Amino acid sequence: MFPEVDHVLISEEQIRRRVTQLAAEIAADLRDALARDGETVQDEDRVILIPIMTGAMIFAADLIRQLPIKLSLGLVAVSSYPGESVTSKGAHLEGDLPADLAGKHVVVIDDILDSGRTLAMVRRLIEARSPASLRIAVLLDKKTRRAEHVDVDYVGFEIPDEFVVGYGLDFNGYYRNHPEIAVLRADAIPSRDA
Ligand code: IMP
Ligand code: MG
Repeated sequence: MFPEVDHVLISEEQIRRRVTQLAAEIAADLRDALARDGETVQDEDRVILIPIMTGAMIFAADLIRQLPIKLSLGLVAVSSYPGESVTSKGAHLEGDLPADLAGKHVVVIDDILDSGRTLAMVRRLIEARSPASLRIAVLLDKKTRRAEHVDVDYVGFEIPDEFVVGYGLDFNGYYRNHPEIAVLRADAIPSRDA
């Protein structure tokens, strides 16, 4: 069924529990932020969640259903340009950011923080739109791979430097539907500079 998957790194139950904890933290922080603005959770419409497609799809779907807050969703897609050298690599936003981020509480959601280039770029672009606040939530963090520093507010799990798939993460477009976070077989693992 999943021929290139080697072993499970994080089980469905572990993911479920951690997503519940993250949602509770995010909901509490957003409520505090709204309270400081002097608005009630019922009245406001000033929270927007921005999942980065396609990897964040499943994480975002599970997370938002545990946020009992009035919010909207604005999807964005990011492509990265692999290059020969580290400096020639870059992340690039496909299309536009959601309109009207000014004055809103923004939460960016991504599947994994790896080199940091994707989220560093997204953070810069959103900050330029003057949001009331900006938070970033990632399910996974491969700390040892960081090439560009980026502040993130919520991390589900720190993982070792292994190529993982499942729960939204893909290998060549496949295995996003694998229900657990799993490690690819060694002979299928792509070049670490790809
Ligand atoms: P960064 O810009 O290097 O931080 O890369 C982040 C993006 O690379 C993520 O949003 C994923 O789409 C992809 N990525 C990084 N590591 C993995 C992995 O182990 N499995 C699947 N996708 C990954
Ligand atoms: Mg991605």
